[in-house]
Amino acid sequence: MIRVAVAGAAGRMGQTVCQAVEGAEDMELLGRADPLLDTTLEDVLGNVDVVVDFTRPDTALANALACLHAGVHVVIGTTGFDPAPLGEARAEQDPHPPRPQANVLIAPNFAIGAVLMMQFAVDAARHMARAEIIEFHHDGKLDKPSGTAARTAALMREAVGADAAEVPIHSVRLPGLVAHQEVILGDVGQTLTIRHDSVDRESFMPGVLLAVRHVGSLNDSPVVGLEKLLG
Ligand SMILES: NC(=O)c1ccc[n+]([C@@H]2O[C@H](COP(=O)([O-])OP(=O)(O)OC[C@H]3O[C@@H](n4cnc5c(N)ncnc54)[C@H](O)[C@@H]3O)[C@@H](O)[C@H]2O)c1
Repeated sequence: MIRVAVAGAAGRMGQTVCQAVEGAEDMELLGRADPLLDTTLEDVLGNVDVVVDFTRPDTALANALACLHAGVHVVIGTTGFDPAPLGEARAEQDPHPPRPQANVLIAPNFAIGAVLMMQFAVDAARHMARAEIIEFHHDGKLDKPSGTAARTAALMREAVGADAAEVPIHSVRLPGLVAHQEVILGDVGQTLTIRHDSVDRESFMPGVLLAVRHVGSLNDSPVVGLEKLLG
């Protein structure tokens, strides 16, 4: 059994992750950290193998560093923060610690359809002149542009080459939305639109559970992107 705690357990994503972990036969939910539940991350770190973090851009890094220092693997879904210090923390970890080194997996989007949307957009960017991204999210989302849009744009630019133009991102925040993205590519006399919609937070759960199962056996860390686990 993989022993799991969830940071941000009272949040929109955290509640759904807790249900998914409780429903997984190979996992045990041992902790729910959230200020709204009067439980800190430190309260739940002692006895778990993996922490899943769906908190806020201003807390995710500190949470992940606390996990690494405790030797606990961490799966991060929180977006809108700079993960660079996690690589440095990994390099600084004691090479002969009492527990094996802990790993980090970060995914700006755990929905398989969104991963495919990013891959198709990267492929299309190689063949069409220009592209722009429109991302649509619920009005409670704190970061803008979304982590998915920022990563899609970075991957598309990387695929085309360093001289490629920026891929502009437009952000829409409205009640009624969950998480949606359109990549629109244009060339002479034609456009191509690639669209993904998460209409329910359940869409992220197979990806989150996959990450929990694999984060402990990564050869490298931090790993960014669910596609690294999809073969
Ligand atoms: N990677 C993905 O697939 C994916 C999908 C959806 C949302 N997200 C991201 O997940 C994050 C959470 O989204 P949400 O809609 O659930 O937000 P939310 O505001 O509903 O939930 C965040 C929760 O974190 C708690 N929290 C704040 N500080 C904390 C701390 N130090 N320790 C533990 N808990 C703490 C808050 O009290 C709150 O309950 C956002 O960054 C969002 O962009 C990622």
